[in-house]
Amino acid sequence: MTTGTDLLALSPVMPVVVIDDVGDAVPTARALLAGGIGVIELTLRTPVALAAIERVAADVPDIVVGAGTVTSPEQAKQAAGAGAKFLVTPGCTDSVLDAAFATGLPFLPGAATVSEAMRLAERGVSALKFFPAEASGGAAFLKSIAGPLPQLQFCPTGGITASSAPSYLALPNVGCIGGSWLTPAKLLAAKDFAAVEKLAAEAAALR
Ligand code: 3PG
Repeated sequence: MTTGTDLLALSPVMPVVVIDDVGDAVPTARALLAGGIGVIELTLRTPVALAAIERVAADVPDIVVGAGTVTSPEQAKQAAGAGAKFLVTPGCTDSVLDAAFATGLPFLPGAATVSEAMRLAERGVSALKFFPAEASGGAAFLKSIAGPLPQLQFCPTGGITASSAPSYLALPNVGCIGGSWLTPAKLLAAKDFAAVEKLAAEAAALR
């Protein structure tokens, strides 16, 4: 796996995961994998996020673990150091883009407008995160830009649910979708990994 485009092909749904208790990281990754989802985006939103990436990279080698919510050059470097196999950013600045390229990892930089997507395309990016998807025009937006920007593939994320997922996955410029609904905070707090596995299995069957 070397490109962002390859990332989009790993699974119909990229689980966007917030880990509060580092002990939840490995069982969550195992539950996703058991449900048929071979990729996990661990967001850098909690103090234990980097440790969570380290643990999953070491203990669940069969899942492709990446770092999400990368918003600074330092975080890109730290995530790569922790063993992340890919990076995802909610939006993109030149310095974050430079740092992401410097890691050598595949990554999905975020864009929410046509101009942002065009700037990233100018830098050689062809796989993007579309964020925040629902708030930025949703599936209708992506459908509208497939004509003028046919070379770009997206992972829309933000506000997508199991019921809205199919309308995105039907689009030719959507490689996969991202969402946190597979790993709700409530289920993780309750250590209900069987329920996570069930949600993963439903998501894996979406395409
Ligand atoms: C993200 O960072 O990708 C989003 O917070 C995930 O969006 P969701 O929680 O609405 O699925």
